[in-house]
Amino acid sequence: MRDAARIDDVRAAVADARKQRRTIGFVPTMGALHEGHLSLIRLARQRADYVVLSVFVNPVQFGPGEDFETYPRAAKSDLEVALDAGVDLYFSPSVAEMYPEGFATIVRVEALSAPLCGAGRPGHFDGVALVVTKLLNIVRPDFSVFGQKDAQQAILVQRLARDLNLPGEIVVAPTVRDADGLALSSRNRYLTADEREASLALSRGLREVEAAYREASSRLCWR
Ligand code: PAF
Repeated sequence: MRDAARIDDVRAAVADARKQRRTIGFVPTMGALHEGHLSLIRLARQRADYVVLSVFVNPVQFGPGEDFETYPRAAKSDLEVALDAGVDLYFSPSVAEMYPEGFATIVRVEALSAPLCGAGRPGHFDGVALVVTKLLNIVRPDFSVFGQKDAQQAILVQRLARDLNLPGEIVVAPTVRDADGLALSSRNRYLTADEREASLALSRGLREVEAAYREASSRLCWR
């Protein structure tokens, strides 16, 4: 596995892989890799000959008072996990590499960034749109894999890629859950036992809605 911190090194490594006619799959992450990320890497591994993983805690998607400083960082174990998972190129740029002095560009997907999670996290989705635009332009993969868990992000990235003709297909991979139904997330470690129990209402609610939908559609089919 190659470990790169510089954009030029990523471009050179991917160009080499392309010369060897290898298909490039890309998994962007903010690190603290867990089984959910591994499922994205496995999917990329199945479909691509060359897998690029980025680990970058993107400051511009954190609002004031959010957890940028304390967001879980696990550089050493992330490298080991990536190596074991068969990643070919591990890209972990510095903030200065991604946003050099004088950086002045914003990217906004109108309409999709303001509602739902965007309402409580102003600027968050602009930050996601910006870094995803940069990463896809740096790696120029054949496809990138995003998790369904971040459903609004996945929809926004699909629109962004379509609107800006960003390189590669956007693949959305299923959510991985703990045995109790909670979707895996690096931020789950912030939850107290009570909050964790309360948050299970989401997966239970989703399962009940799905069951009700299936039941209603099976009845409609018989009419
Ligand atoms: O889902 C994430 O981990 C991040 O939002 C992403 C897509 C890597 C952009 O920083």
